Amino acid sequence: MCGIVGYIGKSEIKDILVDGLRELEYRGYDSAGIAVLQQDEIKSYKAVGKLINLEEKTKDFASEGFGLGIGHTRWATHGKPTELNAHPHLGEFSYVVHNGIIENYQELKAMLQSEGVTFLSQTDTEVIVHLFEKNYKALNDPMAAFEKTVETLEGAYAVLLITKVDPDKIYFAKHGSPMIVGNDDNGDIHFGSSDAALIGKATEVIYLDDGDYGYTSVEGINILHNRKPKALNKKALIGDKISAQKGGFRFFMEKEIYEQSEVLGDTLIGRVLDDKIQFDELDENFFDGIEEIKICACGTSYNSGLACSYIFERQAKIKATVEVASEFRYKEPLLTKNTLFVVISQSGETADTLEALKMAKAAGLKTLAICNVDNSSIVRIADRTILARAGIEKGVASTKAFATQVMAMWMLTIYVAQIRKTMTPQEIKVELNAMRHIPTTVVVTDKLHEKMKRLSKRYLHGHGFFFIGRDMFYPLALEGALKLKEISYLHAEGYPAGEMKHGPIALADSELFTVALMPKTLHFDKIKSNVEELAARDATILAISPERIELTDDYVHTYHSDHPMSEFFEMMVVTQLLALEVSIRLGNDVDMPRNLAKSVTVE
Ligand code: F6R
Repeated sequence: MCGIVGYIGKSEIKDILVDGLRELEYRGYDSAGIAVLQQDEIKSYKAVGKLINLEEKTKDFASEGFGLGIGHTRWATHGKPTELNAHPHLGEFSYVVHNGIIENYQELKAMLQSEGVTFLSQTDTEVIVHLFEKNYKALNDPMAAFEKTVETLEGAYAVLLITKVDPDKIYFAKHGSPMIVGNDDNGDIHFGSSDAALIGKATEVIYLDDGDYGYTSVEGINILHNRKPKALNKKALIGDKISAQKGGFRFFMEKEIYEQSEVLGDTLIGRVLDDKIQFDELDENFFDGIEEIKICACGTSYNSGLACSYIFERQAKIKATVEVASEFRYKEPLLTKNTLFVVISQSGETADTLEALKMAKAAGLKTLAICNVDNSSIVRIADRTILARAGIEKGVASTKAFATQVMAMWMLTIYVAQIRKTMTPQEIKVELNAMRHIPTTVVVTDKLHEKMKRLSKRYLHGHGFFFIGRDMFYPLALEGALKLKEISYLHAEGYPAGEMKHGPIALADSELFTVALMPKTLHFDKIKSNVEELAARDATILAISPERIELTDDYVHTYHSDHPMSEFFEMMVVTQLLALEVSIRLGNDVDMPRNLAKSVTVE
């Protein structure tokens, strides 16, 4: 989740850029950089890790008088978090920062390389600066060159570019990634990829629309759209930084639920190809000699692992077992070398998971981490890592990390199935197609959110919740119950639906709330029977299903029932919204529930 800032004016440029980047830290990043242009000299600095490292590198540098600059915080998705991959990226006489993904970068890069351009980084961004310079050399007009560059780019982007051939201007473009430009009372210009970077600096701002591009100098902001000048729609910038960071949502958790569509797209990018899964992080030999996988994790990450163990056995035909890390550590487990040890962790710092990983390594097992934070302890220790790419998660109750973990594990399943040939090419294509649709499946519609808000008022009391499901919807039931109990403080349990009659059904009465996950594509008739058994005992039931269920008290209609995973992801969103709205109605602090911490670094 990268961040962008820019500035034109007479104040000290480095301080303004670094200060703006600091306001974007909440988005998560693993490297940062700035470029400052004065007269016709550009100074650029980059550093891996926290902003303090960049500050250290720039401590002897300060600008004096008029100038301009651009800055960036990078969250690695393409290429490792190294200085070379950090932005700004340079050409011969220009620098660029970019958020988003340039989808046609490989063909652009090949074209530029064939003309003798040398690339320094592994990023998609670098093509922008080289393309601009190529166009400038042909057209001798920076604006025309920038316009042509923008028209060639495919994908999502927010771009700032500075160049020695036009040293008083910042060129900008926005398509699919946010970008805001504003001015302060002195007429200085400020850019930011979020309000948070601009509060306290700009007084009036323009929220650029997709397809907007142009240039800015202290003489003014010039926006074009489809090659025509566009009127400036300036708004006063008000608000406080925290609410700006929440992007208009009431809580970070809510924002993160809404972000799932975007981040799941990031998880897929470059990995789901036309007819196969590709992981740059793995090679096929990695699975040689592996006959079993053992997944180890805590909390939500455990639930994602448990869900995926079902598909791993079913599709990759490898025995998959899952263990809670705190139990695994002390049970004196038998570890055999034909086992791949997989740890799943959002933070990469969870003490129990980390220690379990160390044990597996010490026993000589191959290890793989599914993790959201590059350079975390778990990533550093595991033999290989697949990054979940959820971006920073601020809400203590994990939502988008869970979603991306499940997606990454599903992709891993298909990757192994490819190698082991346990699925036909046609079957694999069905999975790839389903994966590509998941970002659409998890979009939160107004209708759904309104429904969950209304429903939540009926579920604030009672003597407990049972979330029930079968197959991989049982781990989803566990996760739904965990979300609810974490932030509402109501008692909630996840249960395999078929187990209810082996004990828990004794609790059933009208004050027992059951949330039934009833997918059309997996054991629908079986779970329907379980729901009927509960209804007969007067339990209050909320059914989540694409099939209208008459006998339950409440019903949430789901729409994506073409594939079990589509149903899984859609129902995941429903359970997250239920927990969120119940917690809000109870007046709890959704983002910082009592007794919990985001990263559990003690056992
Ligand atoms: C629940 C939650 C926790 C974490 C658990 C493991 O919403 O966030 O249950 O999933 O503490 O944390 P990570 O994934 O960072 O290892």
